[in-house]
Amino acid sequence: MSALEKTAAVEETTPIVALRDLRKSFGDLEVLRGIDLDVFAGEHVVIFGPSGSGKSTVLRSINLLEPPTSGSLKVAGVEYGPGRPGERVERRGKALDLRRTVGMVFQQFNLFPHLTALDNVALPLRSVRGLKRGDAQLKSAEALRRVGLLQRAGHYPQQLSGGQQQRVAIARALALDPEVMLFDEPTSALDPELVGEVLKTMREVALDGMTMVVVTHELGFAKEIGDLNVFMEDGVVVESGPRGFFENCTSPRAREFILAVR
Ligand SMILES: Nc1ncnc2c1ncn2[C@@H]1O[C@H](COP(=O)(O)OP(=O)(O)O)[C@@H](O)[C@H]1O
Ligand SMILES: [Mg+2]
Repeated sequence: MSALEKTAAVEETTPIVALRDLRKSFGDLEVLRGIDLDVFAGEHVVIFGPSGSGKSTVLRSINLLEPPTSGSLKVAGVEYGPGRPGERVERRGKALDLRRTVGMVFQQFNLFPHLTALDNVALPLRSVRGLKRGDAQLKSAEALRRVGLLQRAGHYPQQLSGGQQQRVAIARALALDPEVMLFDEPTSALDPELVGEVLKTMREVALDGMTMVVVTHELGFAKEIGDLNVFMEDGVVVESGPRGFFENCTSPRAREFILAVR
């Protein structure tokens, strides 16, 4: 059993993230048409599928950047969704509490250009966590060290490569001690020679036991970390499965897609 597989020896308890019949419409267009997904502590979930299939919308729903139209969205046992039709939600969690639990890394790194790497990481520690300046800076330095960028703490984004900027974005999410981290095509905006360093950082985060949901077209990396692999198309999960999915999946569309990406 590899070290990565060991981290997948997950607790059979409440899932960190549980989606039930999650639906999302933009006007008349239903882009998520009933998503069910469980993510357990320490698990690494890979979501892949064609452009427009709803992958980003799933991630954006999990931290309420896109409020679901209907269905259940539970994070750490707390309901944040509107509930399934006919279901009455007794107590709904607040978006701000959810953002403390869920970290997100985007394709575009979304760093502030006028702030140093250290201050980019420190900002949400102060605004979301309410840390004092000194404490936030200490914690930020520690997070930058984890992604191998402590020596770049005083650099501004434009002085960093795309790969380094994305690692700062990962540090910014890590610093908040999330229970789950969502990655939306974190290497898609990078020049090919910079992809490896970001995947290396993500691999280290995974090995540390972080619960992760990763949307990626890097199928080699997906094979390596994916404890659960989810193929989406047209707003539904077409097929999902454990390790070995890329060799063993049976739906023609998933197989075609894997061949086309490889
Ligand atoms: N804010 C929005 N308003 C209208 N349509 C949207 C919005 N965001 C996404 N969509 C549509 O939802 C569908 C799924 O998009 P997305 O989740 O970004 O797919 P993916 O990440 O798999 O490429 C697409 O048809 C997209 O055009
Ligand atoms: Mg997307």
